[in-house]
Amino acid sequence: MFQKPPPKASELHNKPSEDFAAKLAQTTALLKQAALEFSPCVQASSLGAEDMVITTLIRQHDLAINVFVLDTGALHTETLALLERVQSRASARSQVLVYKPLLEEVIAFIRRDGQDAMYKSQTLRKECCQIRKLEPLARALNGQKAWITGLRGEQSNNRANMKWIEEDTQAGMSIKKFNPLMQWTWGDVWHFLSEHSVDYNPLHDQFYPSIGCAPCTRAISLGEDFRAGRWWWEDASAKECGLHQK
Ligand code: ADX
Ligand code: SF4
Repeated sequence: MFQKPPPKASELHNKPSEDFAAKLAQTTALLKQAALEFSPCVQASSLGAEDMVITTLIRQHDLAINVFVLDTGALHTETLALLERVQSRASARSQVLVYKPLLEEVIAFIRRDGQDAMYKSQTLRKECCQIRKLEPLARALNGQKAWITGLRGEQSNNRANMKWIEEDTQAGMSIKKFNPLMQWTWGDVWHFLSEHSVDYNPLHDQFYPSIGCAPCTRAISLGEDFRAGRWWWEDASAKECGLHQK
């Protein structure tokens, strides 16, 4: 018998807030401010839904903001395929830069603690994040005046109190951090992606709202928290890899 395919994320979640137009205007103004007043600045993209909104706005407004992706060496094939597509649409004013971990550090870590070290203890999980994410992040932010993230306040309690523009410290460097989607809802994100027919990670159609490295990300079930699929074996209050730790 013919079975109806499950709805796509772009159909399922497209529910804009009443003040969506005002939010979009505010976000666009912040991106323009970052490009004009804090040059050079970069967008950090995990290639998740939120980051696709920001990259699309950067390109729509032809802003001189490069996009960087931390390719941890443990991303899903779907994410890597999207990275290639995003790279193929890059422009001279907005290039896509990829930062990978240092191979010798990854090899030494795996030799010592194994491929599945992240499940053994939180210390080892954080060490893996340090090698695969934080060290490359320091290189990506070196020489930049600001970085732009796709963080949203409703993603977790830890993220509820952020500001549009924050003072951040990464690897001992002071840098401005822009959070232009701070007030966007999940419905706003999908409204924008649907309205502009933006290419997105197909894992979102398989109930992965938040996408990180493959070993540390799973799909969520109905009623589960937005970040339930990230580091699901750890305590909920610890679900940060260090990119956004205060
Ligand atoms: S994480 O800290 O838990 O991994 P999350 O996946 O919610 O972060 O993403 C929040 C923001 O961090 C993204 O919108 C993006 O700006 C940045 N980010 C996360 N992962 C990456 C990555 N692999 N490369 C570049 N930026 C990233
Ligand atoms: Fe390692 Fe998982 Fe952190 Fe990725 S999210 S760097 S695989 S511990």
